[in-house]
Amino acid sequence: MARKFFVGGNWKCNGTTEELKKIVNVLNEGQVPSSDVVEVVVSPPFVYLPLVKNLLRPDFHVSAQNCWVKKGGAFTGEVSAEMLVNLGIPWVIIGHSERRLILNESNEFVGDKVAYALAQGLKVIACVGETLEQREAGSTMDVVAAQTKAIAERVSNWSDVVLAYEPVWAIGTGKVATPAQAQEVHFELRKWLHANTTPEVAETTRIIYGGSVSGANCKELAAKPDVDGFLVGGASLKPEFIDIIKSAE
Ligand code: G3P
Repeated sequence: MARKFFVGGNWKCNGTTEELKKIVNVLNEGQVPSSDVVEVVVSPPFVYLPLVKNLLRPDFHVSAQNCWVKKGGAFTGEVSAEMLVNLGIPWVIIGHSERRLILNESNEFVGDKVAYALAQGLKVIACVGETLEQREAGSTMDVVAAQTKAIAERVSNWSDVVLAYEPVWAIGTGKVATPAQAQEVHFELRKWLHANTTPEVAETTRIIYGGSVSGANCKELAAKPDVDGFLVGGASLKPEFIDIIKSAE
């Protein structure tokens, strides 16, 4: 089954107007495979979404890094899915481990957010991943299966969902998962989808890897059959992000 390669750039809480304009310039000048081969989505902080959307090359798209779990209202500080749709922002990252761990977003809360965002017409990068303690305890698949189950129980249409496996112990540490480690979890996640959703969902859903992806390690990871792309943090703010996009070839 050919799944279009997907490369996301999660810029997290970084940047100024000037810095992000420079990053967008590098992206706009990058020589990359066509959008038939690779889907590229970059995710600036909320406050820069209109700026980046307006300056970014038309074959790349923008994503928010989060959205609220229901219709807007008396939820100070939140940004609703409706607002993103109103701005013409097509994608949103939901369930990033930094929000699960720092802001205590539960599996059920993440599942509800994914369902609500999809219902408003957004496409979702849904994140799962285990901590080092959970991996060392041998419970990696229990953890990511429970996270994925909380999404699957609330989502029937997976065509607008990309599943991102991001082991917490690899995020921002430089300790990238080995290609074998990534392939093992991606394979098990696809098997879980096959058993708990439909064979078509399992075969068509992109499962992407995140956690210390770089220009140096992306090719080997991309060569794995169940690695359908990346969600990149630090390296997405650097020119090497172009090399990571090229790993789709
Ligand atoms: O969402 C992607 C991010 O968590 C990975 O971060 O800096 O390890 O590539 P980084």
